[in-house]
Amino acid sequence: MTQRFSGKVAIVTGAGQGIGKGVALRLAREGADVVVAEYNPDTARATAVEVEALGRRAVAYPIDVADVAALQQMVEDVVAEFGHIDILINNAGVLRTQPMLELSEADWDRTISVNQKGMFFAIQAVAAQMIRQLPAVLREHAGLADVVAADLAGERGPSEEELANLAGSYGKIVNFSSIAGRRGRPLAADYAASKAAVISITQSAALALAPYRINVNAVCPGIVITPMWEQIDRDRGRLFGAKEGEAVRAFVNQVPLKRAATEEDIAGAVAFLCSTDADYITGQALNVDGGFEMN
Ligand SMILES: NC(=O)c1ccc[n+]([C@@H]2O[C@H](COP(=O)([O-])OP(=O)(O)OC[C@H]3O[C@@H](n4cnc5c(N)ncnc54)[C@H](O)[C@@H]3O)[C@@H](O)[C@H]2O)c1
Repeated sequence: MTQRFSGKVAIVTGAGQGIGKGVALRLAREGADVVVAEYNPDTARATAVEVEALGRRAVAYPIDVADVAALQQMVEDVVAEFGHIDILINNAGVLRTQPMLELSEADWDRTISVNQKGMFFAIQAVAAQMIRQLPAVLREHAGLADVVAADLAGERGPSEEELANLAGSYGKIVNFSSIAGRRGRPLAADYAASKAAVISITQSAALALAPYRINVNAVCPGIVITPMWEQIDRDRGRLFGAKEGEAVRAFVNQVPLKRAATEEDIAGAVAFLCSTDADYITGQALNVDGGFEMN
């Protein structure tokens, strides 16, 4: 496997299991050191051990991403340990299957706090650090437009060194939305709202951070059989008497490629968005769903 992320430090939230774990291991296999930012300390440690077995450095960092102060502390701790942060994967998320008319205020608040607020403030904390890491010349002239405008006004053109520094990217952020961010869900209205917000925040952050050469994109996975989907299947069984696996099969039948995604299907797309091949892609939400949604 190529070493596209050699020398890079990646924070992956919710990397104790499921897709986040798959992404953490994929980035590590391609050379990244990984911070496993995960609510469950036991699974955080287990993923960190697997990353280390791949020959990379890893830190298990127990955290609730809904805690904004904890996110800021995490950035300080990661910089103290590794010196820099190059990649942020906002993967942590929660979903509970509930008919819309029965959704409680507490469940609404928790979903929005983790999936939406946590993601926003993780971007804010990490992006501030990415900007601190920028080459001084780029920080000073954030935005090629400023340099070009100065050049046109005959005041000052960019030097060779400045032009070299202005090429490429200095940070990659990938946020987890979902196909539920593309369309409402009667049994997960809070979740769908939070995932639509992820797409909006991705666009806002991409615009705000473009002058600093930080790319911000989202992925919208379809159906991936992780502990989250196993829970959805159980919940639908409880609510509608569906048999084990029935809800999954019903969804998969609607997927043009006629299968669920593997964690590696999603990790591959995330790795692409973190790579130099995606330097000119920002503010996008990429469906990785076997053709389920096409917008
Ligand atoms: N599985 C799917 O089919 C699917 C489809 C679309 C989108 N997604 C999204 O992909 C992401 C990963 O999903 P998954 O299926 O692997 O889920 P999962 O439930 O299997 O794993 C989520 C991980 O996030 C952690 N986590 C939850 N709340 C946290 C918090 N507050 N702070 C830190 N960590 C926390 C959990 O402990 C768990 O390890 C989620 O954002 C989810 O919404 C999943």
